[in-house]
Amino acid sequence: MPDSPTQPIVCCIGQPVAGNPTQFMMERAFAAAGMDWRYLTLEVPPDQLGQAVLGVRAMGFLGANITNPHKAAVIQHLDKVDESTELTGLASCVTRSGQHLIGENIDGKGFFQALRPKVDPTNKKVVIMGAGSTARAIAVELGRAGAGELVIVNRSADRGQTLVDLLNQRVRVPSRLVHLSGDYAVEPDTRIVVNATSIGSGDAEAWVPLDIQALAADMLVADVAFNPLGTRLLRDAAGRGCHTLDGLAMLVGQVMISFKIWTGVDPDPVVMQEALEEYLEI
Ligand SMILES: NC(=O)c1ccc[n+]([C@@H]2O[C@H](COP(=O)([O-])OP(=O)(O)OC[C@H]3O[C@@H](n4cnc5c(N)ncnc54)[C@H](OP(=O)(O)O)[C@@H]3O)[C@@H](O)[C@H]2O)c1
Repeated sequence: MPDSPTQPIVCCIGQPVAGNPTQFMMERAFAAAGMDWRYLTLEVPPDQLGQAVLGVRAMGFLGANITNPHKAAVIQHLDKVDESTELTGLASCVTRSGQHLIGENIDGKGFFQALRPKVDPTNKKVVIMGAGSTARAIAVELGRAGAGELVIVNRSADRGQTLVDLLNQRVRVPSRLVHLSGDYAVEPDTRIVVNATSIGSGDAEAWVPLDIQALAADMLVADVAFNPLGTRLLRDAAGRGCHTLDGLAMLVGQVMISFKIWTGVDPDPVVMQEALEEYLEI
């Protein structure tokens, strides 16, 4: 018999969310830590989000991962947000504190946790391809971590400029926009290049508009795509002698952060990584 009459419950809310590997990883990590917790994956349409958050409150869930398309809309249903959510306008993890639900953005933190053992972004020039929600979270986190300069390369000038203004004015990291046209050649003093566009997700051969010849061996090239792994960008970057970081590491980082926030326990990173690899059949 379990010690507690009911199990603590946490969840993932998104749409579409089927195929999201987080539940598989969390359940493995709970089992490895000997914790009788439950993680549910919940398909919630946008017009039902408020009701879903009421359900989280009413049923006493201890937390939730929030994924697309709800990261911005969920904020109005929460009681408080942390600085990362206030800056990005996006919450990807909800925690309960008493009767309050608190939003955090852990996407950028997950990326940073994966990046830091490979390269410290402090005072480095970083190029970020994209200005969507993932790019915004990564850019804000790298800015907060002391990056020297952030170059945002984006197809839509409006969205890119909005991010650059946020970085310059609120995060106070020097930042500028490159409006994407053709293949972007990173400058030689760039140390970190991040593909945070949706190019590469679902298509290992997709072309990220970067001039591969401009990549050099003293650069780290990261790709947020995790399914499939081994994107064309990362293969090309490795061919130029660059260090590389795939989207798996970022995802593991985010799931580990959620686990720790909710349970107070550090999960086993090897269990998380192996569960993700098993789920993705790598
Ligand atoms: N590894 C992880 O843990 C993790 C976590 C979260 C997300 N992701 C991945 O991150 C990716 C981005 O997600 P998101 O939520 O940030 O998406 P999003 O908000 O829709 O942003 C997509 C970005 O990609 C750009 N883009 C899309 N197609 C393009 C093209 N053909 N040419 C140039 N730019 C293009 C968009 O440019 P415009 O602004 O011009 O439209 C925008 O900047 C997804 O593939 C997702 O799977 C990975």
